[in-house]
Amino acid sequence: MKKVIAVTEGDGVGPEVIREGIKILKVIEDYSELQFELREAPAGGGVWKEYGVSLPDKSFETIKNSDALLFGAIGIPGLPQGVAEIAILKIRQGLDLYVNLRPVKLYETLRDRCPLKEEYIGPGIDITFVRENTEGLYANIGGILKNEVAQNLMIYTRKGCERIISYAFEFAKQMNHQKITSVDKANVLKTSQLWRTIFHEIGEKYPSLKKEDYYIDSFCQWLIREPYKFQTVVLGNMFGDIASDEAAFLIGSLGMASSGNIHPNKVSMYEPIHGSAPDIAGKNIANPIGTILSVKLMLSISFAQNELGNEIEFAVEEALAEGRTVDIKNSTLKTLSTVEMGDLIAQKLKLRLKK
Ligand code: NAD
Ligand code: IPM
Ligand code: MN
Repeated sequence: MKKVIAVTEGDGVGPEVIREGIKILKVIEDYSELQFELREAPAGGGVWKEYGVSLPDKSFETIKNSDALLFGAIGIPGLPQGVAEIAILKIRQGLDLYVNLRPVKLYETLRDRCPLKEEYIGPGIDITFVRENTEGLYANIGGILKNEVAQNLMIYTRKGCERIISYAFEFAKQMNHQKITSVDKANVLKTSQLWRTIFHEIGEKYPSLKKEDYYIDSFCQWLIREPYKFQTVVLGNMFGDIASDEAAFLIGSLGMASSGNIHPNKVSMYEPIHGSAPDIAGKNIANPIGTILSVKLMLSISFAQNELGNEIEFAVEEALAEGRTVDIKNSTLKTLSTVEMGDLIAQKLKLRLKK
């Protein structure tokens, strides 16, 4: 089976982590029926500097005509705010990728890197954030008038809320979760009041799932206090952006967290949740696991290859028991570069797939 994958390396550590993601795709090609044709779709700050746009039409065409997009990270310090980052929003809006799925799982082998004390880690952390990805503050990027007035509108529609909340309920059901958590700011925001109403309307169709609501401020505290209590967490665009970065550090590093920007059964985009990490770019020390686990999500979600996807995750866990990039280092294990971490995971995956 052949799949066309558009690839955006982007800026900063983007190309470094993408190289490792592609390494994993090559192993999959060698040991399965899947074949990949990779097509470059340049985007980001470097592209903006050269062409004055961060998402050239040609790149978007390539992406639209692919089976999925593997995306690195974009952003260069010193550029006008937002000119690089708008490329991501154009892809999410342009392809109507309304689901941003962000799993955050603390591997047993990485418990040593969780910043929480044992009593707060409890039985473990395994949360999936289902972030709305096209509405809220991101629906309208606002404007600034004469450097005096600035505005952004927070827009939620019934259709937008219904589709993301329904996706989250279905996800929770499929995962056999006992409960689903909705996060909002309904004590203040009208948009959240609509969101909460819709959450409970849809919830009536899922009598066996326990439903709970949190306000975002308090949720950020509970996320650290009792992270083991959350399973599926559905939330709006901006709240999801912020809470998922916080949660990513609980599993050891922002570099560990993967994501899928999904429109079910259409071209979807897979990327680590971190940015271009200019502070470590070009040093061959970035953690490639967020990207490699995004490849896992691509295989499971866009290509319906759950088993292969799971093998990637097992290979990651095995590799973490032997070596680590510096952000998750452990004094008793080898400290590895980006390339070495990718090599080790690729080697573990080969061994698993050979069996
Ligand atoms: P960042 O996520 O790039 O970095 C935050 C911190 O996490 C840094 O200390 C960084 O070194 C560390 N980190 C990130 N990825 C890592 C990895 N793979 N391995 C180890 N450590 C890692 O956030 P920032 O510094 O606020 O943003 C930098 C640029 O990236 C900005 O231009 C921002 O707009 C952009 N950004 C892009 C995306 C994206 O492309 N999807 C996402 C977030 C931020
Ligand atoms: C993310 C990023 C993006 C967002 C930015 C870079 C547009 O922070 O994917 O989490 O805000 O969604
Ligand atoms: Mn973010």
